[in-house]
Amino acid sequence: MKAVSYEGTHKMAVTNHPKPKLSSPTDAILRVTTSGICGSDLHMYDGRTELKEGTVVGHEIMGVIEDVGEAVASIKKGDRVVLPFNIACGYCFNCHRGYTSACLTMNPDAPSAAYGYAGMGPYQGGQAEIVLVPHADFNCLKLPGKPGDEWEDDFLLLADVFPTGYHATELACVSPGKTVAVFGAGPVGLLSAYSALLKGASEVYVVDNIPERLEKAEELGAVPVDFSKGDPVEQIFKLRKKNKDLQQSMRPGEEKMQGVDCAIDAVGYQARDDKNPSKENPTQALENALKVVNPTGSVGVIGVYIAPDPGAKDKQQKEGVFDFPLAAFFEKGLTIGTGQAPVKKYNEYLRDLIISGRAKPSKIVSHHIQIDEAPEAYKKFDQRIDGYTKVLIRFGDKKAA
Ligand SMILES: NC(=O)c1ccc[n+]([C@@H]2O[C@H](COP(=O)([O-])OP(=O)(O)OC[C@H]3O[C@@H](n4cnc5c(N)ncnc54)[C@H](O)[C@@H]3O)[C@@H](O)[C@H]2O)c1
Ligand SMILES: [Zn+2]
Ligand SMILES: [Zn+2]
Repeated sequence: MKAVSYEGTHKMAVTNHPKPKLSSPTDAILRVTTSGICGSDLHMYDGRTELKEGTVVGHEIMGVIEDVGEAVASIKKGDRVVLPFNIACGYCFNCHRGYTSACLTMNPDAPSAAYGYAGMGPYQGGQAEIVLVPHADFNCLKLPGKPGDEWEDDFLLLADVFPTGYHATELACVSPGKTVAVFGAGPVGLLSAYSALLKGASEVYVVDNIPERLEKAEELGAVPVDFSKGDPVEQIFKLRKKNKDLQQSMRPGEEKMQGVDCAIDAVGYQARDDKNPSKENPTQALENALKVVNPTGSVGVIGVYIAPDPGAKDKQQKEGVFDFPLAAFFEKGLTIGTGQAPVKKYNEYLRDLIISGRAKPSKIVSHHIQIDEAPEAYKKFDQRIDGYTKVLIRFGDKKAA
């Protein structure tokens, strides 16, 4: 079968691999219909993780079940399913409490496992024609409809970026009426903004410097903020000040609350420096999030910070150690949330929002490709050119999928 594998920094290849086989009675075999390329895959592509060459990548996976082990009870051949990017057992202490992003049994080296990802266990990725699904009863989310229907892209986004964006709003304590700033207009930032709007946030700002992505943010109902046009935090303060009705209804001293209630870092450790975007500044988005949020507000860190980082500029950063403005953080009395999204906590309800027509996350999808085009798509997505924002790989018959 064909699959996309990591062959060194800036080298993805389409290679041939043996078809995975059932290895435990609780496994299933999935024939993939669509698989996404994620911003997280770019950290590996850029050589910013310790990933073994030859690893098959891809953790956003949906398709049709081809076979199930004899202990699988709720999933059968022919079922259409999407997989959370987290691989979880369902019975460990963390899974039991809903933290499938910190499953204690599926990865011998750390709490948390995923398909085709550095440091996340020995699992083959899903940018492949076929993938093995461990603990199929727990990890498959059943879907209505047929491969290639109007929901194919929406459902694929349930594997990662839609629940991840939603989780970012949970980490940042977004609720109806609150004001929100999102740093990063990649798929995760865009769907964090979208989730905030679904939850009823009153104002949502999205910061980036890529025109097509800022346009998408506006299309979704957020206010775009281009950091190449000046300090994004100051820009948000100014935009809020322009709202005369809001200014008129303030309580004494409220002018000190010129920022927002909730901020989301949807960029992570490969952030660009605001003033000099050709340079990397790993804490830029996090620092801005801490600045833009009002005293007593909340910050959600959904963009990843990974160590060891072979591409970092010094020894400390290679180990993932950065300066952090702790005094400002304390003085403001902020709450901060971090980590991988426990996709399974949200995917069922978000699926139902899609089915009822209340959510259409696929608005952010920019490209559909066949697997042979993957190396070129990685290159363009990494350079963020030609509008490459969210790329989905289609498998099999072009019409059927
Ligand atoms: N926590 C999780 O469970 C989880 C899941 C999926 C992805 N992620 C992470 O979320 C992050 C975003 O993912 P994505 O798919 O949207 O990736 P992406 O790379 O497409 O998006 C990142 C965006 O940030 C922008 N950016 C760079 N520097 C910036 C700055 N200083 N200020 C504002 N914007 C800036 C880039 O221009 C880009 O548009 C990545 O770190 C990814 O690994 C985390
Ligand atoms: Zn991802
Ligand atoms: Zn578990």
